[in-house]
Amino acid sequence: MRKEIPPNANSLIMSMRSLGYSLNNAVADIIDNSISAKATKIDIICSWDNQEPFVEIKDNGIGMTSEELEEAMRLGSKNPLHERDKEDLGRFGLGLKTASFSQAKKLIVKTKQNENTYAAIWDLDLIEKENKWFMDLEKLDGKNAFKEKGTTIRWEKIDTLEKKDKINAQEYFESVTNQLIKHISLVFHRYISGDYGNKIIFTVNGNICISADPFFKEKSTTQPAEIIANKCKVISYALPHHTNCTSEEWEYHGGEEGYLENQGFYLYRNGRLICKSTWFGLARKLEMRKLCRISIDIDNSSDAEWQLDVKKSRATPPQQVRGRLRDLIHAFSRPAIKKFAKRAKALINKQKSPIWERFVSTDRQIIYKISKDHPSIKFLLNSLSEELADEAEKIFSLVEKRIPLQLISSDYAENPKNLITEELTIKEILDHAKNIIDYYIKQGLSVEDSYDILKGIDIFRENWESIKDSL
Ligand SMILES: Nc1ncnc2c1ncn2[C@@H]1O[C@H](COP(=O)(O)OP(=O)(O)OP(=O)(O)O)[C@@H](O)[C@H]1O
Ligand SMILES: [Mg+2]
Repeated sequence: MRKEIPPNANSLIMSMRSLGYSLNNAVADIIDNSISAKATKIDIICSWDNQEPFVEIKDNGIGMTSEELEEAMRLGSKNPLHERDKEDLGRFGLGLKTASFSQAKKLIVKTKQNENTYAAIWDLDLIEKENKWFMDLEKLDGKNAFKEKGTTIRWEKIDTLEKKDKINAQEYFESVTNQLIKHISLVFHRYISGDYGNKIIFTVNGNICISADPFFKEKSTTQPAEIIANKCKVISYALPHHTNCTSEEWEYHGGEEGYLENQGFYLYRNGRLICKSTWFGLARKLEMRKLCRISIDIDNSSDAEWQLDVKKSRATPPQQVRGRLRDLIHAFSRPAIKKFAKRAKALINKQKSPIWERFVSTDRQIIYKISKDHPSIKFLLNSLSEELADEAEKIFSLVEKRIPLQLISSDYAENPKNLITEELTIKEILDHAKNIIDYYIKQGLSVEDSYDILKGIDIFRENWESIKDSL
């Protein structure tokens, strides 16, 4: 006996709604369809509308006929195994439905390709009531008909907000709208700038999205592109050190999560960002690699190998690519590591008589200690009785052992330009200089020789003009 067993509408809907889309990913999935339909302008409206929030995504793409619309509303409208047009951003024949239902219980699609405009509606409350996949499809006339071809997707009954109280829900809705602008600016940055395909203008509630290229190409150093396994193109970027850009540039390119978090691979499929700032488990996120970002470009013929997920927000590099990517992380990290190591060395060498000394043990542990050779420290220890000098050394040792390294390094990682050391005043510099000269004269040195020693120390040399007449 053969029997047709259609899926149970209610249970299927519930599972489909929990695929784990965020609002950002859901809107991006709808935008993919508009891009595949050759849109050049995509306008998004998110409205609180007196506690009846709705989201609308309107494009000027090729639109659909009534038959195409009917097919588009079907779950699994296309077979994921079928070859797609090479510019198509779709794969599973699901996105329109799964993305919409993840956020809202009512999906309205209006579209015009030729002379007529059609609307199709899925209302989950009605499906639930009848436990049947009934959809409304109608022709729109008069003022409801579109003047130009294109498609509008509208979500109503956005119940992802229901759990929150009303005031919080509105605030939440506004903050997700702002996040959405950032998300689109990043995920579709190549389309916005015209780097990939036709240039597309995106607006969210009337605000134009500005391309947010994560690689800061104007100031980054780049390695030549490499093609792996004939299919994926990889380019690495070492972003500029904070001393080579303005505070605004540094802040902006760090992104909300900061440089440490935003290092990693950025995977693009047909020019659209799929996932970002991940080493795909091939390496750890390290401070010394925080300026490294590597772009990987694949096209839609690699979807199965990369295990692209329905939400288009996750993928895994195939085995034949992983080994090479691992090598590249290390090779590609080198410019940034070199920059880092060079800078550390330069800083240490900069001062002839540094107050802090850096010791590296044989097992590569690094310790910072206060230098007993610094003239000011020498002066202090020699002017104290033996007992007090011992006490002072104990205090130095305490300070050395209690440097808040983690706090400093996390402040530095987050915002190096805000982490400052207070400047000495000229009076303080002068007092130190006088003490040192007194000390050396007492040791039997001539005034000229003591001056020479002073001039060998950065802080006095740099301020020599201001202090020399008062010594
Ligand atoms: N804005 C649009 N303009 C024109 N056609 C569209 C639009 N949105 C959807 N379609 C049509 O509806 C079909 C189904 O869309 P849906 O997003 O559900 O699946 P898909 O894009 O084919 O694959 P995926 O699940 O990977 O997104 C699309 O293949 C396309 O033919
Ligand atoms: Mg789609």
